[in-house]
Amino acid sequence: MKVIESPQEMQNWSRAQAKAGLSIGLVPTMGYLHEGHLSLVRRARELCDLVVVSIFVNPIQFGEGEDFDRYPRDLSRDLDLLKKEGVGVVFAPTATAMYPEKERTIVDPPTGMENRLCGRNRPGHFRGVTTVVSKLFNICLPDVAVFGQKDAQQALIIEKMVRDLNFPVRIVRGEIVRELDGLAMSSRNVYLSPEDRKKATVLYRSLLMARDLVGQGVRKTSQVRKAMFDMIDQVDGTQIDYIEIYNARDLSELEEINGQVLIALAVRFGDTRLIDNLLLEV
Ligand code: PAF
Repeated sequence: MKVIESPQEMQNWSRAQAKAGLSIGLVPTMGYLHEGHLSLVRRARELCDLVVVSIFVNPIQFGEGEDFDRYPRDLSRDLDLLKKEGVGVVFAPTATAMYPEKERTIVDPPTGMENRLCGRNRPGHFRGVTTVVSKLFNICLPDVAVFGQKDAQQALIIEKMVRDLNFPVRIVRGEIVRELDGLAMSSRNVYLSPEDRKKATVLYRSLLMARDLVGQGVRKTSQVRKAMFDMIDQVDGTQIDYIEIYNARDLSELEEINGQVLIALAVRFGDTRLIDNLLLEV
């Protein structure tokens, strides 16, 4: 497995593979890998001849007071995991290599989509994501890029960006991978105290309850959101950032649950903000 730090070298490598007729699957990550990331790697390997995993904690998608400095990092552990998965190349650039100049071009996320859900309390976050992902596409030249469904809004925004800007890449979504007790895997789960770790299972339980309510015929989004709110609010020390039910295709608001629906939430446990979601077809 090759580890490449230089964007230029990465681009040269990708060009050479394309010339040799080999397809590239990219899995963009911020490292501190877990089973969720590895499942995306396996998906990319099924679809392409070669897999590139990028590891870059992107400073411009973190807001002031967010966890950029303390975001967990362990490159050597990540490399060991990826070696076992048969990854061809890991692209692990420095921040200076990615952003050599202070003044820079920014790729704006699609209008209308970025101010909802996570965008509401994380202004500028998705601009950081669309900018870095555009750079990663231009550097790694993938045929396919795999993103996790756990960041449903991010996946939607990137799919739309790819359509709007004609990036020659196919976006594939990988399923959410959960711990045995239902908590969605996330690099941020390491921040949780043992007590909060137990409490955090309420996120998935509230999504399952929402699914049951819809299964029983409840269609009012306000009713389902309230039931979820009450369930999570009962758990001591939780702070609900949002619980929303949107059209899963364009994040438009819904009064009635109908069609492809995304139930998404973000909740704080102390300083740790966790997200989760469920897709329903009604
Ligand atoms: O999902 C992530 O880990 C990041 O937002 C991404 C897509 C790697 C961009 O920095």
